[in-house]
Amino acid sequence: MLDAFGQPQSLVVLGGTSDIAGEVVRTLAQRRCRTVVLAGRDRDGLDRSADAARAAGAERVVTVVFDASDVGGAARAVDDCFDAAGSVDMVLLAVGMLSHQRDELDVERTREIVSTTYAWPAGALTRVAARMSEQGYGRIVVLSSVAAVRVRRANFVYASAKAGLDAFSIGLGEALRGSGVAVQIVRPGFVRSKMTAGLPDAPLATTPEAVARAIAAGLESGAPVVWVPGVLRWVFGVLRLVPQALWRRLPG
Ligand SMILES: NC(=O)c1ccc[n+]([C@@H]2O[C@H](COP(=O)([O-])OP(=O)(O)OC[C@H]3O[C@@H](n4cnc5c(N)ncnc54)[C@H](OP(=O)(O)O)[C@@H]3O)[C@@H](O)[C@H]2O)c1
Repeated sequence: MLDAFGQPQSLVVLGGTSDIAGEVVRTLAQRRCRTVVLAGRDRDGLDRSADAARAAGAERVVTVVFDASDVGGAARAVDDCFDAAGSVDMVLLAVGMLSHQRDELDVERTREIVSTTYAWPAGALTRVAARMSEQGYGRIVVLSSVAAVRVRRANFVYASAKAGLDAFSIGLGEALRGSGVAVQIVRPGFVRSKMTAGLPDAPLATTPEAVARAIAAGLESGAPVVWVPGVLRWVFGVLRLVPQALWRRLPG
């Protein structure tokens, strides 16, 4: 069960090799989290993430293999994770694939990015909601992005998928009201991780550690939406309103 400060004792990570997820696991394992299920496609990477989780204080760490390109396999992957964990206080959805301008005209690449960033996560979250509703409690934390709030030309395939995921998560949170299960949407700006390796920092760039701290604070406060850094809430409150002709000229 989540403790009095909203911190989980058992955690499932969908995207268990993500740099941001790794920091979230470390932060929560240093608190009360003792059971961690790490799910992803890279067995060796999952083993390394599992070692890091144990080093941070997790006592029971299990890995589950899935590939998000198999959208039809989303429910089975979630069931495998819940069955391995026993009861699940929190699920972190960290799967995603960034797009670049070179992807715009590539149909197969577009399908892969949309499947990984929206279609598989939507299927998985649907199953997570059902399993947590059966339990009658739980917290679902979804890594969305500020990219979802206003789509940029540079990565519009990814951003449109994140916009879908963000909207889906808002709706899911509404549907779960009164069930004991809550959804927390996390909207980081540019985070220095393996996803953005080699790219120049965008304004207000941040770190996986900062995202993890913000998520832990959001669990404690019960905030339905967490922006990282927090000032982006206000920045994007303005940016979502600027005319497209100005938006396309802004850096980042
Ligand atoms: N970095 C940023 O600037 C930023 C900003 C806002 C939001 N986010 C979001 O935060 C989340 C975590 O990103 P991150 O920065 O930690 O980057 P990351 O380390 O690249 O994490 C992405 C995760 O998605 C997994 N993944 C990709 N394709 C997959 C597939 N077909 N099947 C299964 N897993 C797959 C990756 O697995 P592999 O390790 O096997 O590739 C990895 O675990 C993502 O949803 C991302 O969109 C990131």
